[in-house]
Amino acid sequence: MVFEQELDLLVRSSYPIIYIPTPEEERAEQMIAYVAQSGTPARALHLWDFIEGFEGTGVGRNNPVQALNEIEKANPDGPAMFVMRDLHRFLDDVQVARKLRNLARHLRNSRKTLIILSPTMRIPPDLAEEVTVLDLLPPSVDEIGQELETLLEQVKVVLTPGGQDALVKAAQGLMMARIRLALARAVASYGRLDERAIPIMLEEKKQRVRRTEVLEFWPNAETMEDIGGLDILKRWLEQRAAAFTAEARDYGLPNPKGILLVGIQGTGKSLSAKATASLWQLPLLRLDVGRLMGGLVGESEAKTREMIRIAEAMAPCVLFLDELDKGFAGVGSGFVGDSGTSARVFGTILTWMEEKTSAVFIAATANSVETLPAEVLRKGRFDEIFFIDLPSERERREIFEVHLSKARPNRLRDFDLEQLAFQSEGFNGAEIAQAVSEAMHMAFDQRREFETEDILRAMSFIVPLSKTAGEHIARLQEWAISGRCRPASSDAAQAGLMGQLFGAASLPG
Ligand SMILES: Nc1ncnc2c1ncn2[C@@H]1O[C@H](COP(=O)(O)OP(=O)(O)OP(=O)(O)O)[C@@H](O)[C@H]1O
Ligand SMILES: [Mg+2]
Repeated sequence: MVFEQELDLLVRSSYPIIYIPTPEEERAEQMIAYVAQSGTPARALHLWDFIEGFEGTGVGRNNPVQALNEIEKANPDGPAMFVMRDLHRFLDDVQVARKLRNLARHLRNSRKTLIILSPTMRIPPDLAEEVTVLDLLPPSVDEIGQELETLLEQVKVVLTPGGQDALVKAAQGLMMARIRLALARAVASYGRLDERAIPIMLEEKKQRVRRTEVLEFWPNAETMEDIGGLDILKRWLEQRAAAFTAEARDYGLPNPKGILLVGIQGTGKSLSAKATASLWQLPLLRLDVGRLMGGLVGESEAKTREMIRIAEAMAPCVLFLDELDKGFAGVGSGFVGDSGTSARVFGTILTWMEEKTSAVFIAATANSVETLPAEVLRKGRFDEIFFIDLPSERERREIFEVHLSKARPNRLRDFDLEQLAFQSEGFNGAEIAQAVSEAMHMAFDQRREFETEDILRAMSFIVPLSKTAGEHIARLQEWAISGRCRPASSDAAQAGLMGQLFGAASLPG
């Protein structure tokens, strides 16, 4: 009902041009017709498309400018709504654009409203002022329920109430046309409609995610067992493993919002963010911030809104925002290289994060806090901000263990983990992984098994990042002890981070 109410309000308030981006032309038109009828007095409704011109008269056939002229000339007795179906294709045309701007002025002082229906969101900058965007959201639970009942009646099937609920839930977030397709496919495949339609519906959702181009399903092969160290972070995540269940809701727990993992390169931030999804057995969606930016005016914002909608439709899920600092570098620093698009996109995401109550858990990572807009770190955005430091000796041992037991599950005891951990001071997790694989290459070259010695040798060839980027690391550690975040490991916590900070100045030479 929200859509109809909003449209009614815009029409009553004389908004001249309303742009509805939706692939669901038919559903949108039904709703527009409802709004037209329910006005007092009822509003006349005129439909135009490129092939037929105005319905009934054929005026403006193959000629959008003529159609717009017709709207200007029209002198209806009462209020009127003009719906144009293909106009979006002509918005770049100078005649059409100019005509629209002039028409907008005229429409504001009349009781006529122009509605542009378009499957895409593309508004040229010179029209941005005249046009108001109204989103048609996917159907509500009630609408889906009604649709399902109609269909069940047609195929003469009775579903269990539980099965029906599950099916409606699986369909949530999809457009009605897609829901109908999926249901029809289920009937065609199984000769009836039952719970077997759920996987078909979920497959439809995956397709939907793919079409957004900014979200992707990320295979979450990583698990908690792949992470060495970071005990506090792991415990925090394990404690919330059941936080998205109905049981947790009944208990009165709100949905967890998200975490931000800030820290030094190669320390397992991305790894931990991804492992969260497998620990919680939730789908992992990755947002490509780069793809969100760019394009025409309004496009990025529309994509952002769509992304949020899809993510919520996929809930419960983990939304992986990797390298947040890179995606939004410069926002808030006064740098407006892209006429504020990234600032607006970022603002939309931040507001959503703050207000969101849905079961979308955001797992974000960042390498530096300097380029990160300050608003991100404010309370209420994330449940917790964790700082991931260079691994301690104990943690390095664990990381060696993770990688060696992956490479040689039966030979773990052959390796001197103590020595490896001791000798690898200043190494991050990625460098430890690299040393192990280097050692394997060296040994394989001589067609023999690799030993502790090989790993030590490989380590001597690696210049750890902590040596070359010591200053950046020290700044991060300094920020971390300022208390705006929580250490991800108890070793770092015990060292008060202070010891680590001074330790960083005397890393192995
Ligand atoms: N704590 C860890 N335990 C086990 N392996 C680790 C750990 N940290 C890093 N690694 C290894 O290093 C690789 C890179 O780690 P990851 O991508 O998570 O680092 P990151 O912190 O996201 O780094 P960046 O800041 O460069 O993105 C992992 O795939 C893994 O092999
Ligand atoms: Mg990373």
